[in-house]
Amino acid sequence: MTTLVERLQARQSTSAKHLTAPGPTDDELAEVFRAAVAVPEHGAIRPWRFLVVRERGQQRLSEVFVDDLLAEEPDAGEAEIAKRRDGPRRAPLLIVVAASPRAHPKVPEVEQVVTAGLAAFVIQSCFHDMGYGAVWVTGHPAYSDRVKAALGLAPTDHIVGFIHVGTRGPEAPNRRKTRPEPDAFVSEWTGA
Ligand SMILES: Cc1cc2nc3c(=O)[nH]c(=O)nc-3n(C[C@H](O)[C@H](O)[C@H](O)COP(=O)(O)O)c2cc1C
Repeated sequence: MTTLVERLQARQSTSAKHLTAPGPTDDELAEVFRAAVAVPEHGAIRPWRFLVVRERGQQRLSEVFVDDLLAEEPDAGEAEIAKRRDGPRRAPLLIVVAASPRAHPKVPEVEQVVTAGLAAFVIQSCFHDMGYGAVWVTGHPAYSDRVKAALGLAPTDHIVGFIHVGTRGPEAPNRRKTRPEPDAFVSEWTGA
């Protein structure tokens, strides 16, 4: 049995194009969300929102992505349209993780967005732990008020990520990625 530290060191994303059926079960999803709401969070604001998007929802969100593209770029080419259309339905399951911050005297918005990011990471990591592949993406639709509105989010909300989840397909690379040397980012501050 590996430790959590070892599993985090070995964590890596799987490109959505390598994610196939089956996706997680409802019971697995429920376990993952139970872990997601256990992230550190200041002020009991609970600003996270998790939208589960499958099948019909993915088809509908594809249309929303295309409408959004065409609203911004009416002359968008077929390739660009196809790419947007494909975006939400590349894997069996899509989870939209959003932050819905509210004004609070002690908890600035950045902290509320950070905790939603933590929840997104926990969701992705739990799926890895369960043996699924997952990848966290954003892209233009994450910052579109039209997309937010279609998902029932306010313009002041933030989509922190679209997490694609599925079974790693046979073509998914198994090579362990090279990671940066942590020493480059770590120093000791002594105040001297
Ligand atoms: C907030 C956020 C947004 C991201 N958006 C994208 C994206 O739109 N497209 C993409 O290819 N990767 C995106 N990534 C990076 C991937 O999730 C992934 O971390 C990266 O491909 C490196 O792979 P690894 O997780 O195995 O190190 C994003 C990561 C974060 C944290």
